[in-house]
Amino acid sequence: MKHFIGIVLLFTVLSLVAAQDLDLKRGRKVYLDSCSPCHGITGKGDGIVAANLYVKPRDFTLGQYKIKSTIDGDLPLHEDLYTTLSKGMGQRNSMLAWAHLRGDDREAVLAYIKSLYPRFATDEPPQVISYPAVVPPMTAKTIRQGKTWYEGIECGKCHGLSGHGDGPSTAALRDEQGHKITPPDLNKPWLFIGGSTRMDLFRTIKTGIAGSAMPSLDGIITDDQIWELVDYLAHEFVQPGEQAPR
Ligand code: HEC
Ligand code: HEC
Repeated sequence: MKHFIGIVLLFTVLSLVAAQDLDLKRGRKVYLDSCSPCHGITGKGDGIVAANLYVKPRDFTLGQYKIKSTIDGDLPLHEDLYTTLSKGMGQRNSMLAWAHLRGDDREAVLAYIKSLYPRFATDEPPQVISYPAVVPPMTAKTIRQGKTWYEGIECGKCHGLSGHGDGPSTAALRDEQGHKITPPDLNKPWLFIGGSTRMDLFRTIKTGIAGSAMPSLDGIITDDQIWELVDYLAHEFVQPGEQAPR
């Protein structure tokens, strides 16, 4: 009986490993077909068209991701990557929505991308930022309060006082790879890489945008204060969910 259980266990483990290999093989195929022209054959963000792109494709060997619901320094959740892949990253760069790929192909290609950065396999599970249980209501008072944060934290240095991305520091901004980077016009939410609902804005402001110049406010102001800032943005500039004019 003991031998029998041992053999069953061995086969289970072997078939799990084989399934994983198959997934990676399939992920690699999807990757080479659809992603490598920009992200490069080896995932270093140096595909054949990359040189001509203003916003450079991600280098998957660095493990740096802009859109995540996890604390500073932690990797994104699998769901964060799945959402980004399915929704794309706004209309300011060449990262389109890949919702037309079958769900299991999206899963396989993400498994492949993650295999290019070993910490995905070895890190403790990432820690998600704290979200409020209920979204607080937007009032004249929260909007007013948010304006004082926008001015006090000097968001306008980069974003400009009217949100057009024309602050005094804007021209000098560089991302961690040394490429020039500009903030999107906050009046044009279809340009945002991480979505424009109030909840998206809360996450973006709390986590910041890793690798770019956009700072994280986690631990710097409270969640309630972040909501006030969100309300100011949503009232003053961003019409959450607004689409580009045709
Ligand atoms: C036409 C070029 C292009 C193609 C093709 C492309 N990408 Fe991208 N991708 C980009 C660019 C550019 C960025 C960086 C956008 C930014 O930083 O604002 C990016 C970023 C990403 C990110 C980073 C998300 C984050 O949170 O930082 C992921 C994941 C990603 N792409 C996955 C894929 C996958 C998977 C495919 C293939 C199914 C793919 N991309 C195909 C151009 C492309
Ligand atoms: C040092 C410059 C800098 C400061 C200060 C700054 N930002 Fe940003 N912000 C950026 C850059 C650069 C981007 C674009 C990043 C990218 O697309 O990779 C950005 C993007 C954004 C976005 C768009 C997110 C998206 O999904 O595309 C919002 C909203 C935003 N910032 C809000 C704020 C608020 C609110 C503050 C003040 C608390 C602030 N920023 C302070 C540089 C800055």
